Amino acid sequence: MGTKLVGGPEDTLNSGRRMPLLATGTATYPFPPADDIKRAVLDAVEVGYRHFDTAALYQSEEGVGLAIAEALERKVIKSRDEVFITTKLWCNNATPERVLPALRESLRKLKLEYVDLYLIHFPVRLKEHILDMTCEKDDILPLDLKSTWEAMEEVYKLGLAKSIGVSNFTCKKLADLLSHAKIPPAVNQVEMHPVWQQKKLREFCKEKGIQISAYSPLGAKEWGFDLVLSNPTIIDIARAKGKSVAQIALRWGHEQGVCLIPKSFNKGRLTENFAILDWQLTEEELQKIGEIPQKRIATIPEFIFPDGMFKSPEEFWDGEM
Ligand code: A2P
Repeated sequence: MGTKLVGGPEDTLNSGRRMPLLATGTATYPFPPADDIKRAVLDAVEVGYRHFDTAALYQSEEGVGLAIAEALERKVIKSRDEVFITTKLWCNNATPERVLPALRESLRKLKLEYVDLYLIHFPVRLKEHILDMTCEKDDILPLDLKSTWEAMEEVYKLGLAKSIGVSNFTCKKLADLLSHAKIPPAVNQVEMHPVWQQKKLREFCKEKGIQISAYSPLGAKEWGFDLVLSNPTIIDIARAKGKSVAQIALRWGHEQGVCLIPKSFNKGRLTENFAILDWQLTEEELQKIGEIPQKRIATIPEFIFPDGMFKSPEEFWDGEM
């Protein structure tokens, strides 16, 4: 009712740009062929999604690029600015002189002149040859956040990224970044769902004008976790409302005002995940979800080594566990 269906609801970022709040994620492993990603993104465009989330890490930029090119050619979308594309700087390029070349490479794969949002993927720098999460203790190098962010500000000024932001940043790391950033991050993309509600981080970001994007909004089901979709509180609410369990988890996230990035390469589930706009949760249901015991699922053990830079998940997440 009054809700724009194509693209769904949007929010204005601190950069002044509009960002659709229902996005499609493209991270999956093993990396699928570009054609599979292209088909999933084209399905998502047909369903109404206009925000696509990719990353150098996911090796999905090429597939997203093929899909956007074909959607334009088939006139399913009329112009480039009808879609919002987020991509991310991988940790091997998290050093000032490598930011611009890394973004240019992403743009080449995406066949785009600019991305709508460019994020520092993790507050971590890795050796140049590390292209994914598989690394040894000595592959983790100190990240110079100040100079790396300055390089992010440069790509913003060049117009190659219309907004810039970060991912997997804690309140502590955001505070550090804000203490020297000339252009504040527009977005912090983090794990968020009913089992990891990020109350403290959301309050902090709200106060600072940083939009939250929620990855793994179904509880990282893609990575084999089932804590959200098997949660009894959410299952009960879903039954009572005649909605799916995934829809309850997503609607909860939507009502918190964040951008949601569920990954689905199935058109039926893409449709289901978009159908969360014309109904709402009651106060009582929101309260019950608010009482769900909390647990961070994506602790990122790949970067934790007992004798390395991050010795424990607590250290990696600055105690914000
Ligand atoms: P598929 O791509 O086959 O739809 P998350 O982003 O939290 O990791 O969740 C994504 C995972 O959840 C993917 O494995 C995806 O599989 C699955 N998924 C996406 N939408 C739904 C849904 N509505 N119901 C159940 N599973 C879903």
